[in-house]
Amino acid sequence: MRIVRDVAAVRAAVAGAGRIGLVPTMGAFHEGHLSLIRAARATCDLVVVWLFVNPTQFNDASDLVTYPRDEERDAALAAGCGADLLFAPTVDEVYPAGFATTVTVSGIADVLEGAHRPGHFAGVATVVAKMLNMVRPDVAFFGAKDAQQVAVVRRMVADLDLGVEIEVLPIVREADGLAMSSRNVRLGPEERRRATALHRGLEAARTAVTGGERDAGVLVRTVEDVLAAGAITAEYVAVVDPDSFAPVATITGRTLVALAARVGPVRLIDNLEVAP
Ligand code: PAJ
Repeated sequence: MRIVRDVAAVRAAVAGAGRIGLVPTMGAFHEGHLSLIRAARATCDLVVVWLFVNPTQFNDASDLVTYPRDEERDAALAAGCGADLLFAPTVDEVYPAGFATTVTVSGIADVLEGAHRPGHFAGVATVVAKMLNMVRPDVAFFGAKDAQQVAVVRRMVADLDLGVEIEVLPIVREADGLAMSSRNVRLGPEERRRATALHRGLEAARTAVTGGERDAGVLVRTVEDVLAAGAITAEYVAVVDPDSFAPVATITGRTLVALAARVGPVRLIDNLEVAP
């Protein structure tokens, strides 16, 4: 696996390759990231892993400062999963002096994460548009963990005719259900235990739907009760359409239950699809 830092090097490396797969990441790899790299390896001729802690998508300055970084470890893990190229550009390569363009996705990017993290999705959409133009992959791999990010990226790709396939892989979880996240390492032992309430709350909502519950308000309270038992207050618990992220009042088909909550110093998100 080669490590490259600039667009010219990445363009030279992908020239003439067959099917090119891109795995966008901010590093600090865990099994969630590695599942995307393995999926790319299984279906593509050339696998490019993008590693860039994108400053423009952090609405909280301390979150950016404390974001875990270990390129050497990440490079070894990516190579172990069969990646061909680790594209780890500098901030100046991505945002050179004079950079002035922002991609804004309306509607879908304004709710939930968008409402609670002002500017977050503009930062994500802009950097994803940039990396797609830099690498020009046939397919890009994303995790269902960031379900709203997937919906925003799909909208942007369709609206701007970016002509790339978007492949989505399921959420990888710890044995106790906690969704893997680069930020989990910042949880203390007691916070780590309490954080399992996020997934348990979502599972309680799914069980309620299986038992016949169709009222979104009841599902939200079901999740909130489980969180409260773990001494966690959610930033939001929402029942939405998985594609448009429009609120759903009554469950009639595939529906997403999504939440965000602070556990100690760490803001975590999770989601689960439910269906009647
Ligand atoms: P990052 O948070 O590093 O995540 C990179 C990819 O890994 C995303 O597609 C995310 O959904 C996926 N992922 C994270 N945790 C996962 C889990 N537990 N199971 C499955 N997949 C998981 O998402 C970003 O980076 C950035 O916003 C990025 C798209 C790179 C733009 O900067």
